[in-house]
Order: sequence, then structure tokens, then C-alpha cells
Amino acid sequence: MKKDLVSIADLAPEQLTELLDLAIELKTKLKQGRTEPLLEGKTLAMIFEKPSLRTRVTFDVGMFQLGGQAVYLGPNDIQLGKRESVADVARNLGCWVDGVMARTFSHQTIVELARNADIPVINGLSDLEHPCQVLAAALSLREKRDSLAGLKVVFVGDGNNVANSLMLLCPRLNMDFVIACPEGYEPNRELTEQARAFAQRQGTTVQILPDPYQAVKGADLIYTDVWASMGQEAEVEERRKVFSPYQVNKRLLGSAKPGCLVTHCLPAHRGEEITDEVLDGPNCIALDEAENRLHIQKAILFTLMK
Ligand code: CP
Ligand code: NVA
Repeated sequence: MKKDLVSIADLAPEQLTELLDLAIELKTKLKQGRTEPLLEGKTLAMIFEKPSLRTRVTFDVGMFQLGGQAVYLGPNDIQLGKRESVADVARNLGCWVDGVMARTFSHQTIVELARNADIPVINGLSDLEHPCQVLAAALSLREKRDSLAGLKVVFVGDGNNVANSLMLLCPRLNMDFVIACPEGYEPNRELTEQARAFAQRQGTTVQILPDPYQAVKGADLIYTDVWASMGQEAEVEERRKVFSPYQVNKRLLGSAKPGCLVTHCLPAHRGEEITDEVLDGPNCIALDEAENRLHIQKAILFTLMK
């Protein structure tokens, strides 16, 4: 295992499976009321340049359940790169804590934190990737299906951080990946090439299609996310127009495989990228995924910080 979890590309398929297995073990024990102090006395610094509900609570609670402690550092606390350089922040944190989780605007900030800290750095969302989120999705899908291999995952919407991480994840778990997005909103080009090269070796596929109805044919899981991510607030109106044909609603779900599951990383903009009917419907596993953030991140924390 590498020192850090910056990108899904940091994980080999067997490491992914180990993380998922460990998360299931920790979840089962927690449900039985058994928590073990696997990270007793260890501390995690949590750097947030953007708001958060799920990431903040699950990392904080996760460290507590593992017998350690988390320290929250909000946007006004350290002012990364303004009050002090990213490299200096990384070096200082390395003197006091055992790990860093960071949610940043620029992905490069997380890369620099990882390069300059001698402790593990975990990506809690950047403009390029959201690895913890898609690992929670894989865990939720594994709980609902006997095997992940051979499943078809379709992301409908913006080729954003969540889409990029999901695209890198699917071939590593032997799943086909399709994204349905408008022209100009495709996932990151370099990561698409990486994912396609990996898929070719695995015998799976990575496709980009403009038509959501064509894309979801035969889908086992439809994934969606907001049309404007944090930091893109100025583009909200324009994006609302461009993405309106990409809403995940009952009609779109009807074009997928019967029993197709739906998920969303949350927070959702109900009535925009997803309807209430689908988000609150029987096929939706978004809340399972939110719950599983806790369990998969405990597996990540233990694996990197033990
Ligand atoms: N899905 C997710 O990362 O949620 P938060 O932005 O609330 O952390
Ligand atoms: N793509 C979204 C995900 C939020 C969890 C964003 O970056 O705002």
C-alpha cells in the first residue's frame, strides 16, 4: 500500500478488495456493539477548504470509534497557501499528528501535502477526485450484489471529481463504466486514458456517450451528482440549462436493467439532477453509501495509520 490515498489510481485491485473486506468486518463488529481501539492514541488532522457534512462527521466519528482523535481545521484556521505555504503546513502537521485528511479546491494542494508530509494524506475531495466516496459506493454495491465483476455502472451528468474517481475504480473491480454527459463536460482526459488502459488489460470497457437513454441500457447501477460542484457557483444557471436532459428520473430508470440500483454522493439538488421519486425510491442506495463512508474510511484509516 502507498503512504497516501490521493487518487483511486493509488490502489491496486487486490488492495481495493482488502479495503472492502476490512470495511465489512469493521461494520459487522460495530453492528454487534464491538469496537476495537485499533488506532488508540493516534490523531488525524482534517483540513477543509470547502463545506462538508458526511466527510467531516464520518472521519471524526471513525477516528473516535478506532480509539483515536480528529482535529478539525476549517477554511479560516490555516488558510493553506495564504498564511503559510502548503509544504510548510504539511511539515508542521507531520510533527504532531499521525495522518491528514484534506478537502481542497485544487487537487495539486493534496499532492503537495502528500509530498511534503511524512505521514499519510487522504483525499477527502478535490476538484479532480473523491476516492473515499466511490469506495463507499463499491461497498454498498457489493452488499447488494453477489459479485461486482461484470456489472455495468453508468454515471449520468457532469464529468466531475466523483465521475473521475468512479471511472478509475470500475475497471479495477472488473466493472464496465459509461458516462453520459454533454459535450465539453467529459471526465478528465488524462484520467480517461488511464482508466481505458486499465480497462483494456482487465477486458472491461470505459465509454463516454452523449445520450443518457442509450448509456443506461443494461445498467446495473446509475450514479449521479450535482450539475455544479463546489467552486462552480458562478456557472449554476448555465449548467442548469446544459444538463436538463440528464436528469435521473423514473423514465430514465425504466431504460436500465430491471432492478437497476441508483445512487448519489449527496448532497442532492432534488428536482434537478435527480427526482424525489427516484432518490426516495426502492432502488436508491444513496443513504447506504452515506453510511458506508464511515466503514470504508475506518478501513482506510487503519490500513494507512496503523
Ligand atoms: N458526499 C460528501 O462528500 O458529502 P459532504 O460534502 O457533506 O462531505
Ligand atoms: N461534485 C460535488 C461532490 C460533493 C460531495 C462537489 O465537488 O461539490
